[in-house]
Amino acid sequence: MKRKDMFFAAVIIVIIVFLVYLSTIGRKAPAIPGDVAHVKITDQRACLDCHAPGKVSPLKQDHPPKEMCFECHKRGGSSVAARDNFSRKAR
Ligand code: HEC
Ligand code: HEC
Repeated sequence: MKRKDMFFAAVIIVIIVFLVYLSTIGRKAPAIPGDVAHVKITDQRACLDCHAPGKVSPLKQDHPPKEMCFECHKRGGSSVAARDNFSRKAR
């Protein structure tokens, strides 16, 4: 690759990173729930089995980039079932 091409590629990468950053300003990615549906998944392509349009839990229209889920969503969400149980008992 010529130096000019390298520079061009670097500029493109910086712009992409900047745009991804912009799309997440002021929004915090919710943690991945710790329920059975989620804990076992290691391949993020599997996420779209349920989170693609028309599936059980489609992403919102304005959801940020629809790949690389683990870049933004971290483990450590509570189990949804446990959370529901808890709030039911607390009432
Ligand atoms: C078997 C179907 C299924 C798969 C596969 C799946 N999810 Fe989910 N996910 C759901 C459902 C249903 C909910 C809604 C649960 C609720 O909040 O009641 C959910 C909720 C979530 C939430 C929480 C949203 C919120 O508002 O708190 C995140 C984040 C999430 N999923 C990320 C992922 C990621 C990342 C993957 C891949 C590792 C994944 N999911 C794979 C079904 C699935
Ligand atoms: C660039 C960071 C980023 C990436 C990559 C990303 N998310 Fe998100 N996600 C977010 C943010 C931020 C929110 C909260 C959106 C809001 O507040 O409206 C969110 C919300 C969600 C929700 C809650 C419902 C919704 O649409 O708001 C689910 C489920 C979810 N993401 C799943 C996924 C899955 C599955 C992937 C991979 C296919 C993924 N996310 C990739 C940042 C990201």
